[in-house]
Amino acid sequence: MERLTIRGPAPPLTGRLRVPGDKSITHRAILLGALADGTTEIRGYLDAEDCWRTAAACRALGVGVEGWGSPLLRVHGKGLRGLREAEGILDAGNSGTTLRLLSGVLAAQPFLSILTGDASLTRRPMGRIIQPLRQMGANFWGRAGDQYPPLAIRGGPLRGIRHESPVASAQLKSALLLAGLYGDRPTTVVEPTPSRDHTERMLRGFGHPVEVAGRTVTVAPARGLAPLSVEVPGDFSSAAFFLVAACLVPGSRLTIAGVGLNPTRTGLLEVLQAMGAAVEIRDSREVCGEPVGDLAVTAGPLRGVSVEGALIPRLIDEIPILAVAAASAEGETEIRDAAELRVKESDRIAALAGELSRLGANVAERPDGLMIRGGRPLAGTCCSSRGDHRVAMALAVAALVARGETRIADSGCIRTSFPDFVSLLRTVAPVADPRVQSGDPDA
Ligand code: S3P
Repeated sequence: MERLTIRGPAPPLTGRLRVPGDKSITHRAILLGALADGTTEIRGYLDAEDCWRTAAACRALGVGVEGWGSPLLRVHGKGLRGLREAEGILDAGNSGTTLRLLSGVLAAQPFLSILTGDASLTRRPMGRIIQPLRQMGANFWGRAGDQYPPLAIRGGPLRGIRHESPVASAQLKSALLLAGLYGDRPTTVVEPTPSRDHTERMLRGFGHPVEVAGRTVTVAPARGLAPLSVEVPGDFSSAAFFLVAACLVPGSRLTIAGVGLNPTRTGLLEVLQAMGAAVEIRDSREVCGEPVGDLAVTAGPLRGVSVEGALIPRLIDEIPILAVAAASAEGETEIRDAAELRVKESDRIAALAGELSRLGANVAERPDGLMIRGGRPLAGTCCSSRGDHRVAMALAVAALVARGETRIADSGCIRTSFPDFVSLLRTVAPVADPRVQSGDPDA
């Protein structure tokens, strides 16, 4: 098991950096590329384990994916009806996006597919996709009464449906929109509050219209998708760790260049600004239908805020790092309406309350969120990522402001979304132990 050791307090974070490509956009570019008629070129893609799982699954379904590891990824699309039955089990690893989006596509394929994942993914809820995809006409089975992976799918002709989703989930919405490409009539998804809209934007890029009216998204059956040249922006969710680190470490002045600023993703920016952070957007532009800009941040004191409601889906992946910001802020921060955190890569509510408390923060668990009383000094100690990449990186940022050495057990999971996190951190603040140690973390 790998362990990350960081000694704080860190020197100021200074300079300019780029974070790797957006994970959500990379998954979608590969998948839609696989279904397009011709070759899709993807630059700036995220070269990390989660996205590699999507590429590997597409390969197993007969799609040529070339150039992994080089600057240009080429996906030789087979068309909507050109996939072939995989010879083995499709393993999504730790990636919920791979498993759920792919399920939407496989629901329409006239062959058998078996999908599984790692110990975390096989405990994540799949009933939310199985029920509507069955209603569309696919044969679907899952473990534990059709709740969890492994999943077995025998696809076929699909009906378009209208689905009122009880949860704001872009993975669920996207699975239904992808299945909807194969429907006999339009498919509509209504969300309680809007989730990230990369699938909608990218489908338009691939030449297929998508109608959006508030919380309602409708896709019509497709005859084909046109290949696209995709430029993937930097992942806001990866930038978020550096953003908060630079807010918290006194004297920091950092610019994070080329970050995706899709408003369905940037709730954390608004919350940090409400907390008093000095964050500025520079050079706003649009790249491949997605807003992009540079983020310039200067360290300064933060104050607690209340975070709830429609904001939650717009910062769902940033709550681990927001909890770290809140622990260093003056006053109370209450996070509510975020019960979805319990079914992410770990139970993030329990993980954050448990692990940040070890570092000395005052964090209490609520059924649907956290109550954080900020301002207590943090002290380095042993803690664990609980196998969750975002918990690991959030703890690493907490370690920058903690006094003494923090050892984060089970840090290898960072590779699922941000393999260069530690080396990038070292370029702006020489604090992390260069040796990501192997062996028993308690040894
Ligand atoms: C994602 C959607 C979100 C998010 C995940 C990526 C996506 O999950 O937490 O990291 O790419 O569609 P849910 O759809 O489960 O909310």
